[in-house]
Amino acid sequence: MVLLNHLQCIVSERFRYTRLANNLKQDSLAEAVQKKLRNAPRSIPPMFFYDHVGSQLFEEICSLPEYYQTRTETAILRAIRYELSRYLHEQFRLVELGSGSSVKTRCVLDSLQDAGAGSEYVPIDISDALESGAGSLLDDYPKLRITGIVDTYEHGLSIVRHMTNSPNLIIFLGSSLGNMSASESISFLRTIRVSMKDGDLLLLGLDLDKDVATLEAAYNDTQGVTARFNLNILHRLNRELNANFDVSKFSHYAPYNKSEKRIEMYLKSEKDQSVDIPGANTTLYLKKDELIHTENSQKYTIPHIQTMADSVNLKIKRIWHDATKKFSVTLMST
Ligand code: AVI
Repeated sequence: MVLLNHLQCIVSERFRYTRLANNLKQDSLAEAVQKKLRNAPRSIPPMFFYDHVGSQLFEEICSLPEYYQTRTETAILRAIRYELSRYLHEQFRLVELGSGSSVKTRCVLDSLQDAGAGSEYVPIDISDALESGAGSLLDDYPKLRITGIVDTYEHGLSIVRHMTNSPNLIIFLGSSLGNMSASESISFLRTIRVSMKDGDLLLLGLDLDKDVATLEAAYNDTQGVTARFNLNILHRLNRELNANFDVSKFSHYAPYNKSEKRIEMYLKSEKDQSVDIPGANTTLYLKKDELIHTENSQKYTIPHIQTMADSVNLKIKRIWHDATKKFSVTLMST
């Protein structure tokens, strides 16, 4: 299949990827500044966390003692290895939303192998990390062939729809759905649902609602890594748009909003200050204590997961969680 606006890159016999032509990449940082940061309520979309430095800081977050999500989800996937394989068979193709080179991808590949499958893997990610990350799986899974798609999830899923008729196990892990707004997450789940044919499955990892202390500790770690991750957006604006943020005049603020069941992340201006952002033709005038919203991280209940599935016409086959109900992994079908 030849895709317009995509470059085909063949890395080896078993690893190829298709990449959106650079000039078509959407949602630039400068546009985000003009649309969302210039006027109150100010925000910077969380997708801009993940430059090279931000992606490294996120990796660090994942192994922090307070950030229970990654290790809990991994432990669930390890524990359900054989149970999950019973829902699969040798024809299944693995489609991952996110650049998968992680331990979690390997856990799911192990379940697929147990079912006699696991020879085809399609990671979809807008970031170039896919090119280096996914390739590391080839040594450990000698039967595996990888077709990466460097593009948005939506475009990637529409490409997957036109692949051969094998059933897809689509995985969306790490509670990344929780970084979308309520309406965005439903419309994204609908996009996934529309891309699914009969027999396809979706495995969704979601963080569960829990006590405020555990949640706030996870986003306010004692080593300050999450603070650095949040503040890195300002360094990024300085680096990429020639802005003159004095990052020491901002602080990380991440309270739990109980009624919305979500962590909200902000950058707080520690004084009245003005900031020039020449690369976006913008000057900001910030008041002391003024907030810039950078991320929401939704926490779910089982009924909430059921309601979301119902609203996009997905059927829940199984919900797994750890013994202390910190994190969930839900298997859904059409
Ligand atoms: C990627 N995402 C699910 C993380 C989360 O927990 O919402 C991002 C993150 N933000 C701060 N810490 C981690």
